Amino acid sequence: METNDDLTARGALRPAPENFLTPSQIAEVSKGRRDFLRAAFAAAGAVAAAPAALAQGAGDPDILEPLPWATSLGKPVAALPYGQPSRYERGLQRRQSPGLTQTDAASVSFTPLQGTFGIVTPSGLHFERHHQGWYDIDPRRHRFMINGGAPGMIRTPKVFTLDDIMRLPSVSRFHFIECGANTGMEWGNAAVPTVQYTHGMLACSEFTGVPLRVLLEECGADFAKGKFVLAEGADGSSMTRTIPIDSVLSGEVLVAYGQNGEMLRPENGYPLRLVVPGVQGVSWVKWLRRCELGDKPYGTKDETIHYVDLLPDGTHRQYTSIQEVKSVITTPSGGQKLLARGFYTISGLAWSGRGRIRRVDVSTDGGRNWVQAQLQGPVMAKCLTRFSAPWVWRGETALLQARATDETGHVQPTYGRMREVRGTRSIYHNNSIQTWRVAASGEVDNVQVL
Ligand code: MTE
Repeated sequence: METNDDLTARGALRPAPENFLTPSQIAEVSKGRRDFLRAAFAAAGAVAAAPAALAQGAGDPDILEPLPWATSLGKPVAALPYGQPSRYERGLQRRQSPGLTQTDAASVSFTPLQGTFGIVTPSGLHFERHHQGWYDIDPRRHRFMINGGAPGMIRTPKVFTLDDIMRLPSVSRFHFIECGANTGMEWGNAAVPTVQYTHGMLACSEFTGVPLRVLLEECGADFAKGKFVLAEGADGSSMTRTIPIDSVLSGEVLVAYGQNGEMLRPENGYPLRLVVPGVQGVSWVKWLRRCELGDKPYGTKDETIHYVDLLPDGTHRQYTSIQEVKSVITTPSGGQKLLARGFYTISGLAWSGRGRIRRVDVSTDGGRNWVQAQLQGPVMAKCLTRFSAPWVWRGETALLQARATDETGHVQPTYGRMREVRGTRSIYHNNSIQTWRVAASGEVDNVQVL
């Protein structure tokens, strides 16, 4: 079988809409040289443009001559018991950001938003965020327990096996999951070159599971007194988060085992994870092993040290868990290059932790003028929505922006407005308007418009 290098050598690997860094470039960039990273991405953007330019013209042998796949036998079925993308698409990958410090166990990989279509993230491209590495847990040995908490909250503590849970009636729903730290590197300035790294701690799947409410009822939970659920993971980091009871009682919080029609992937919490629609990813506890009920927030380490918002006066905001309305243009986006003047479709994603997206506006001049984008249905609550807008590029420098409004009337803020309230030293919960600058050369990079 041909390797990526073989395919690249004969120019057959379809370039992902952004390019790749060699190990030595990654080492350079890891030292904090962001300009180098920008230059590297821009250079490979130019390489990416080349194959498409060849396609036109008379005498094209791919039209005139018989091609191998039309003149020979194909492969038999079941050559691959579990199907894989075409080898020509191997360039589309989850990637670690060269600018971030990673350890083997505390790590993050980003979804290549620039190369996905519609709203569903293929499971193999779903971003990963692990506080202590991932596990391929033996499902026969995994248990989910509801017990403890404040006295009298749980009348009959119970332990469930995976089979116990899968026997119960299930629901399947489409939801986005976004890490609270998504776009976190952009607080101070435009820090990373591509949408994969500015917004790629974001994914959207159809999740299948049992409402947590049903399981709590099985255990005789006292919903009159219980106001908060504590959810705990089976990993060594013992990820523990407080979940307000309202979202549990509404039935939207799931103990999920399914993702996009199959079991969860190990790195995404197999065999059980919590699905907490609209809430930052850290509350979606993976490898879920225990819940209890209490009458006040638990204030665990993951709620006091991390995922809090540092304000300009030095105080912190805590429990700002809802992922506020946000959008980003995925094409054209940083690291890409417009091949020629003419017609383009600006396309992107919008989402809100408060419900449905009501509208998205798009600007090509840095927010001076806006046109309403078209929303692609279905538009679902607490789910990604794909939008698009036609655009004719005449070779001018352009500043591309999208601004989303959700059904509660919340509107995405500018960086200027965001900084007035939140300063520049936060990590979490950045939903500011993203700007991609298109240069006269067609190259696209990441800039900030206040
Ligand atoms: N659950 C456990 N048990 N351990 C973890 O490290 N990471 C959390 C959350 N659940 C984590 C966890 C964080 S910070 C995020 S953003 C999401 O899982 C990421 O989910 P994903 O890896 O499936 O994308």
